[in-house]
Amino acid sequence: MLGLLLILLLAPFNVLTLPSSFSFPANQLVLQSVGGPVIETEAAAAPSSAVQLIYQFKGHVALENLAARSNGHLVLTVSNQPIVYDMNPNARNAPPTPLPRIPGVTSLTGIVETAPDVFAVVAGNWSRETFQGTPGSFSIWSVDFNHPQPTVKIIASIPEAAALNGLTTLKGSPDIVLAADSALGAVGRLNVTSGEYSVAIQSPLFANSSIIPIGINGLRTFDGHLYYLNSAQGAYGRVPLNADGSAAGEVEVLARINLPAIYDDFDMDWEGTAWIATHGNMLNEITVEGKQRNITGNGQNIEMTEPTSAQFGRGSKQAENTIYVTTGGNDTVGGQVLAVNICLI
Ligand SMILES: *[C@@H]1O[C@H](CO)[C@@H](O)[C@H](O)[C@H]1NC(C)=O
Ligand SMILES: *[C@@H]1O[C@H](CO)[C@@H](O)[C@H](O)[C@H]1NC(C)=O
Ligand SMILES: *[C@@H]1O[C@H](CO)[C@@H](O)[C@H](O)[C@H]1NC(C)=O
Ligand SMILES: *[C@@H]1O[C@H](CO)[C@@H](O)[C@H](O)[C@H]1NC(C)=O
Ligand SMILES: *[C@@H]1O[C@H](CO)[C@@H](O)[C@H](O)[C@H]1NC(C)=O
Repeated sequence: MLGLLLILLLAPFNVLTLPSSFSFPANQLVLQSVGGPVIETEAAAAPSSAVQLIYQFKGHVALENLAARSNGHLVLTVSNQPIVYDMNPNARNAPPTPLPRIPGVTSLTGIVETAPDVFAVVAGNWSRETFQGTPGSFSIWSVDFNHPQPTVKIIASIPEAAALNGLTTLKGSPDIVLAADSALGAVGRLNVTSGEYSVAIQSPLFANSSIIPIGINGLRTFDGHLYYLNSAQGAYGRVPLNADGSAAGEVEVLARINLPAIYDDFDMDWEGTAWIATHGNMLNEITVEGKQRNITGNGQNIEMTEPTSAQFGRGSKQAENTIYVTTGGNDTVGGQVLAVNICLI
């Protein structure tokens, strides 16, 4: 979703001559003092040579997000088609299988597993010109693989949402998913059983900006906190949660990244390290101590073209040490699925 934006954003500048002072306007940065101090970026290790291209779509299929199935397959969402794909990353160059189209929308964004082999998926309309969601166009669907043919069914329309994006589950409440609203600067809470939806947390630290219309984006829960990425503010942060998904404290910014890099969606490992798909071409790692590292595919002459999401594999020891990265691609490069072996980086 953000790939073309990055190009438009940088169009007036040459990337190489971007003024070193270039940053978001101060009033958009929302540097309220919340929680602890912002952790400084530390020096990066060498780029990885452990990146493999698993599949690349022909044509402009803008992959947006993914989830891993217990059988090792990946479930992919696309921001410029209302189609979910199922793929086996171990079957090299086997084309992903499209599931039935979701009607009445142009785009799919977040995805998360809500029950064994059942996934919640965000559907709605996003403009490829303005990178804004159409308020009132959003709904959340379920994709259920526990049938000979996977089923795709609506869970709830969410007319009050403006731009639904990343999803995550809430530990201990299997019927609740949390959803980032990238325009309202909010986290919503959906009961996937009843279809009830309400805003659970809203914060200026979740807001969009006039430069980048996508604010809060990727979400994960870990150790009693909601971790989030804000694309517009270039921020990674967290907020402690109550059992019902409401905030149990202040939102805290843990790390930042500057343009031209833009955070999108991410996964966390068992230690709490975040692995962040970052536009234009890298996976950004942030440890719990705040150490950062940028991983690119350049060591293997692979260009990750507009990474959109990252997710650990499942189904084997090797898959559990692999982060699969989706990319949006661009007008000449189709959306990609890449595998990054974290034992080799
Ligand atoms: C990662 O890349 C971004 C964008 O180029 C840069 O601002 C940041 O300093 C890099 N981080 C590290 C740890 O090298
Ligand atoms: C979303 O896009 C579809 C396909 O272009 C269109 O039919 C539908 O009316 C749009 N929905 C809204 C709420 O704008
Ligand atoms: C979700 O909705 C179902 C059906 O109404 C209800 O039984 C359940 O308690 C709700 N879950 C939560 C966490 O509110
Ligand atoms: C930011 O989100 C608000 C809704 O809260 C919306 O009205 C506004 O157009 C968005 N701004 C941009 C630049 O997308
Ligand atoms: C698309 O991405 C590739 C690789 O990242 C880059 O070389 C190319 O210039 C990009 N094309 C466009 C049209 O932006």
